Amino acid sequence: MITIYFAAGQARWPSYEAPLRAALAEAGIAAAISPFCPDPAQVDYIVFAPGGEIDDFTPYTRCKAVLNLWAGVEKIVGNPTLTQPLCRMVDPALTAGMVEWVLGHALRHHLGMDRHILNPAHTWDPTCPPIAAERRVTVLGLGALGQACSAALQQVGFPVRGWSRTEKHIAGLATYHGAEGLREALTGADIVVLLLPKTPATENILNAETLGWVASGAAILNPGRGHLIYDDALLAALDAGTIGHATLDVFRVEPLPQGHPFWSHPHITVTPHIAAETRPNSASRVIVDNIRRGEAGQPFLHLVDRARGY
Ligand SMILES: NC(=O)c1ccc[n+]([C@@H]2O[C@H](COP(=O)([O-])OP(=O)(O)OC[C@H]3O[C@@H](n4cnc5c(N)ncnc54)[C@H](OP(=O)(O)O)[C@@H]3O)[C@@H](O)[C@H]2O)c1
Repeated sequence: MITIYFAAGQARWPSYEAPLRAALAEAGIAAAISPFCPDPAQVDYIVFAPGGEIDDFTPYTRCKAVLNLWAGVEKIVGNPTLTQPLCRMVDPALTAGMVEWVLGHALRHHLGMDRHILNPAHTWDPTCPPIAAERRVTVLGLGALGQACSAALQQVGFPVRGWSRTEKHIAGLATYHGAEGLREALTGADIVVLLLPKTPATENILNAETLGWVASGAAILNPGRGHLIYDDALLAALDAGTIGHATLDVFRVEPLPQGHPFWSHPHITVTPHIAAETRPNSASRVIVDNIRRGEAGQPFLHLVDRARGY
């Protein structure tokens, strides 16, 4: 019998209890699982979400892995007391949600939907938008989410360029990597999608200089993390018209404070960090699969590299 501590908030326990117990039963794993802290020295696995349940991992001497419920790990990865393996969440349902958000907002800008939805003067303007093949999309970040979104965008017909830290070869995708590849990836992009993690290396990746490389009037979609964009540079580019619109799901401070210029800017759409979320049913299977691996002595999936920060 193994002991699992659900340290992801008591409020979440009612949504996760049944799916986790079902996934454990399906995997044939006998486990005591609880949202109340058992004796830390007896805990085999921690299901974690940032929120104050655990700040100090030192007493969890037997813990074989900390299984993060979220895809982003910036709130835990730098914890100096965490010496146990840390796994992030790669949830097929979260990925599906992100693909839908990115496709929906990309198509909004591509088709110029606002022109018809907001047409107070009842202007009859029969200008047809270009087809997707004529709209260049760049996805920054080619991980679980970036690759899924790139594939879906390509499926619609957009020519997609992707950018990552390390070199990638992905069928049908023009790929670039490293600092030296960023300019080529961004130059002339009509729509830019940010799906990078929050690390020191990705801070302000979109700034006055890099925003200057994209096509005039481009749309920026940021469901990654707020700090990826230098806010003042974005506002200046929107005011100058060199960037046409930004749809932002994530912010340096969340909730986005009332009075923040993003709220009232005519060319910014704010969505309140809802692009994608971890879903209990599918995420429980991912968590339990990693526990099964740990018990079988197999390598964990979705391990976080502390030095890289993601
Ligand atoms: N808004 C929401 O609701 C929501 C939901 C879930 C996740 N997210 C965000 O989405 C992010 C991406 O998730 P994921 O699951 O796709 O992460 P992932 O699988 O870890 O992929 C991260 C990608 O970013 C690239 N990258 C990291 N640092 C880089 C750098 N310095 N330069 C260039 N590329 C770099 C990685 O390159 P390599 O492939 O070379 O390592 C990888 O391709 C998360 O970290 C989180 O912040 C947001």
